Formats: sequence, structure tokens, C-alpha cells
Amino acid sequence: MHETLLLFGATGDLAQRYLFLSLANLLRDRLLPAKFRVVAVARHAHSTESFRQFLAEGLSAKAGVDPGAPEVADLLARIEYVAADLSDPAGIKRNLRKYAGQHCVSFLATPPGLFVPISHGLKAAGLLDAPSRLVLEKPIGRDLSSAREIMGEIGKDVGEDRVFRIDHYLGKAPVQNLLALRFGNALLEAVWNRQWIDSVDIVVAETAGVDGREGYYANYGALRDMVQNHILQLLCLIAMEPPGSLDADAVRNEKVKVLQALRPMKASTVTQNSVRGRYEAGVVNGAPAAAFAQPQGVPPTDTFVAVRAHIDNWRWEGVPFRLCTGKRLTERYTQIVINFRHVSHWLFEKPSRTRAAPNRMVFRLQPEENIELDLMSSLSAPDWGALELRPLELDLSMPLSPRRRIAYERLMLDALNGNPALFVRNDEVEAAWKWIDSVADAWHHAGTPIAPYLAGSWGPPEAQEYLQQPVRKSGGQ
Ligand code: BG6
Repeated sequence: MHETLLLFGATGDLAQRYLFLSLANLLRDRLLPAKFRVVAVARHAHSTESFRQFLAEGLSAKAGVDPGAPEVADLLARIEYVAADLSDPAGIKRNLRKYAGQHCVSFLATPPGLFVPISHGLKAAGLLDAPSRLVLEKPIGRDLSSAREIMGEIGKDVGEDRVFRIDHYLGKAPVQNLLALRFGNALLEAVWNRQWIDSVDIVVAETAGVDGREGYYANYGALRDMVQNHILQLLCLIAMEPPGSLDADAVRNEKVKVLQALRPMKASTVTQNSVRGRYEAGVVNGAPAAAFAQPQGVPPTDTFVAVRAHIDNWRWEGVPFRLCTGKRLTERYTQIVINFRHVSHWLFEKPSRTRAAPNRMVFRLQPEENIELDLMSSLSAPDWGALELRPLELDLSMPLSPRRRIAYERLMLDALNGNPALFVRNDEVEAAWKWIDSVADAWHHAGTPIAPYLAGSWGPPEAQEYLQQPVRKSGGQ
């Protein structure tokens, strides 16, 4: 396992909220090497001491961690701070070359515009020589051509086998469970196709807004911030063919084929197959929430997107995948629902065929993690005249583990260990952008409007068919 982590963007929100907390948790569980240390890099003029103080306060304010916890003290003692202008390769080289010769993982938790100068600086400092690795946070670019430009430059510094692109959704435990259930059960293997599956819904609903990230978000919107990566990765895991093995490339080969089979969106059909929205002022969880503050000089931004996608291959022909995500909605939840077809012949008087609920499988990722299979069962009793069916929700969840891990804990460990299975390969990123670009272009040519919705609502009224409401653990809606 590599022992030195260079964390770029160390004062940023992602690092403060999740990355350092993940490291503290891994230290507490003794999953990191004895000599593990962190070089925190950012542009602010901190000393190591003042950064440690800043981080202890940040962990408490942003991640709710007790700054006196032993793992926090352990983490702080392992941190050294280096100030550097992240847009200046020469400065990065100068300030970091003292770490050359060690096996490092450089984690770029920065805006994508800084990836290339940091990578060039690291290369010049000797910090990307094998077996050192480079971890990139999403988004990589803003479209296919900018992603290619970035990766073309980074490819000059480091080989693809040592580039680890993070999509933190792949580190979430229920997402890994999706593969286990799909490929570990003959019952599911047999029905996982267009013959038995009617449609698939993927919803990532958030109550949070964009607050504080307008500068980044206004240029991306929900389509590029959430659909291009997290939602398409979920879609890949549901739709891919069984890989020959769980080898990282065998899995990624199958994922990329799904992305390449996504039917490009056209201006002539985009209006029937998508909805864009942006939140207005409203009330979320009982508190007033301001409207999205659209910065001047950038095209209007969507904070809500719903798209009906089709995968053009034998398994999924005719099966719509409804993808939906939005900020400032009524409730925070992420779920995938596999809607099965009706049984071929309906024998029962009650409920009538049209009212019978077809089977479905629900993977709930947030706020709870659970998996549910909805069947129909009998309500018959001795005093009952007819056989009446009623829904039966089977809870297939794993027993609760003592502590729910942050997705980044798993991904940090894998990056330090050099296991690329849960990271995204370059051809996946490109194929995902290609489809996203087709949606953005189609909107542009069709002049698709952005519908307003109230913060705290279920999104624009025209999107309701896409927004499957949360399935709760107790069952029902
Ligand atoms: C990030 C997006 O990648 O994922 C954010 O940039 C979003 O806008 C976040 O809020 C959602 O992640 P999670 O794990 O909270 O669902």
C-alpha cells in the first residue's frame, strides 16, 4: 500500500467535508499503514500548524466530528501543509519535489481547470513516476472535447493504468450490492432483460441547493454535475452484460458498451423525452430557501433534469430508463427501481388486472441503504370468499453493519492499494460525455425551456412521470 497521500484542494469543501473525515475513520479502524502521512496542498498561506487548527475546526463544523477524538489527533499529526499556486506547474515542482522518490498517491480534489497544471507540476517534480498514482475527482471536463483535451495532456505525464477517476457513487455499499444481486442469483439472471423488465427508474433527489458553489455549478447544471457521472454509472451497473470475471477491465469493458449503446438524443425528440428545471425561492424542510442565483454571462442553468434514455441492444430494446435528479426537492433520497412486467395471465378477481401492482425491485441508496422486492401475495383467510391479492414487500437488506462507511473510505483504500475496479476508465468518461453532449445539443437546437419549480416541491409539474416517489423501508409509497 502506498504511504504518502498528496491531497490537492485541501482547504476545499470536498476535502473538509468528506476526504479528511474518511481518512480519520480509516485510521481509527487501523486500515492505513503505520507510516501513512498526508501532504495537504492548497493555495492558502497556512503553516502546518494553522492548517491543522483550520482542519480541526472544519471537521467539527462541516462533518460534525469531535475535534478531540483520538483519530482526529492521529490524523492531524500525520499532516504537513504545503502552500502552492495550483495553476503554476513550476511552483508545484519547486514546493513538492522534496517528496520525490516515495510511492505517492496524488488526489486532485480541485476544479478540473487545475488538473493539467497540477499534473505537469507533479510530473516535473518526479511525483508521477511509477508506481505513483493520480486520482481525479469528477467532473473531467465539461464536454467531450474539453475532457479529451485534459486527458490528452495528463496522458503525457502518467499512464492510464495509474490514473484513478473517482465517481464516489461506486464506493457506496448498495451499489456494489447491485452487482452481487444481479450476478449472484439465477432468479434475477433469468429475468434481467426486456422480456420481463418494463422500465427502470433512477432518481437522485436532493434537498440541498447549490449554495456556495454557484460559480462551478452554473457552468455545469444538473445534467453535467449528476447525470454524466453518478446516474450513468448506476445505469451501467444495471444494464451491463455479465463480465467474464470481476477483473477491473472486464467490468469496465462491459460498462463502456452500455454507454456506447445509449441512443443519442435528437432535437426532434428531446422535448418528449426530457424536462429541465430550475428552483425558485421556496421552503425546504420548514426553512426558507432562496432561488438559484443565476450568475451573469453564463447560459441558463438547470438544477433539475429528467431524461428518458434508451439502450439500443438486444437486452434492453424498448425498455425506457427514466433518469431524474434535482436540487431543493421535497425529500432527499436516491433509489433505483426495476419495474417488472405484468404476469402473462391474471387469474384473480381482486384486485383487477389493471390495479394489480407488477413486481418491482428497489435499491435504495439514501438516506437508508436497503433493497426490497415487491411481490403479490394472498390475503385469503377462512372467512374470505374470494382469493384476494395484496402487495408483499420483502426486505432483502443485509444486516446493518455497525457503522455505515463513507463512499470515499473504500475508494481511498483502493487508490492507496492500486485496485482500479471501482474507478472510471477514460473511455467510459468519453462515452458518457458523448451521450450527454447529444442531450445538451438537442436542448440547444430545440430551444428546450427551463421550467421553474418551487424549492421544497417535487420539481416541475411536467416531470412527474419521471420522479418516482421514495419507497420507504416499511413499504408502500
Ligand atoms: C456531487 C455533486 O458529485 O454529488 C453534488 O457535485 C451532489 O452536486 C453530490 O450534491 C451528491 O452526492 P451524495 O453522495 O450526497 O448523493
